[in-house]
Amino acid sequence: MILHDVDAVVLVGGQGTRLRPLTLSCAKPLLPTAGVPFLVHLLSRLREAGVRHVVLGTSYLAETFVERFGDGASLGLELEYVSEPEPLGTGGGIRNVARRLRTPDVLVFNGDVLAGTDLVSVVGAHRAAKADVTLHLVRVPDPRAYGCVPTDEVGRVLAFLEKTEDPPSDQINAGCYVFRREVIEAIPADRPVSVERETFPSLLAAGASIRGHVDGSYWRDFGTPFDLVQGSADLVRGLAPSAALPGPAGEALVLAGAAVAPNAVVIGGTTIGAGCVVSEGARLDGALLFDQASVGAGAVVERSVLGVGARVHAGAVVRDSVIGDRAVVGERCELGSGIRIWPDVVLPACGVRFSAGV
Ligand code: GDD
Ligand code: MG
Repeated sequence: MILHDVDAVVLVGGQGTRLRPLTLSCAKPLLPTAGVPFLVHLLSRLREAGVRHVVLGTSYLAETFVERFGDGASLGLELEYVSEPEPLGTGGGIRNVARRLRTPDVLVFNGDVLAGTDLVSVVGAHRAAKADVTLHLVRVPDPRAYGCVPTDEVGRVLAFLEKTEDPPSDQINAGCYVFRREVIEAIPADRPVSVERETFPSLLAAGASIRGHVDGSYWRDFGTPFDLVQGSADLVRGLAPSAALPGPAGEALVLAGAAVAPNAVVIGGTTIGAGCVVSEGARLDGALLFDQASVGAGAVVERSVLGVGARVHAGAVVRDSVIGDRAVVGERCELGSGIRIWPDVVLPACGVRFSAGV
């Protein structure tokens, strides 16, 4: 089975607040990740599985998606867009695209998740069980930041507990669902609805058949700076699944038009964007450099994002931090443990150490 007969919906309307300041100017699914907008990795997985028709549910910076992907032909897909002038939430966003759906079963994705799961198996399990909804589930060490979804011994979903302090299991909603289209059509229209807090609990209460499909393949939500950096490095090193990596997998991905000094050390799945300059003796480990960023001589950048045109001057150290577009980290500054520098901010040369705790 290939999924020619299954439409896909991708929810991309969130504001990406946990990724500010990067998401002030760019929607989360469009952030450069291992050399291409994050969404391209997800869409490449759909195309590989045989999906042809994809509807994006947009809201925040909606027009930027159309500008970037147009009709989808360059991705080998037929892409459509349905925008919410006021965000309708995850359930409202799914309902809002219902009129564009053409197939009896519909795959729905959170637009910030990359997973290695076999989509054909998920759809196959959904059809075999004649379920109303099938959820892809994964196990994580700390389920509190996700939707906890316990199941019984045959995979029937027992509850849906979104972001609880004391989750009863480590099994969580992986952000990929198969819906019968009628179930989407029954979601209330034109008001905000959370699929996690309202639709799933009320379907369960009404006795609907909701199944979980658990697997142990690669999975990551790219919604925080830590996950964006780590996930991008996973993609560069070939550990995360994508058919859209713009180069061979390895320790580093250097895009065309970047200049890297021969004695710079560039490792750990670092991406160096177009037009970047990395000077002699710099050390980049698990770094994500958007286009036109620069790193001065002897500077160190580890597990951090440098926004478009950001500059880290000679001898500075940046660890576990986010440097906004065009911001400047002066010579010998040391930033660590979750510092976020807003766009255009200039930290003068100082030799002073900033750290957000731990
Ligand atoms: N169209 C639209 N409209 N999309 C939205 C809206 C909206 O109002 N709000 C959020 N989205 C999109 C986001 O852009 C994102 O792609 C997706 O819906 C999920 O939103 P997140 O903000 O990333 O949610 P989360 O990561 O806190 O939690 C969700 O994902 C987890 C797995 O990664 C939930 O579905 C959890 O249950 C789940 O475990
Ligand atoms: Mg998320």
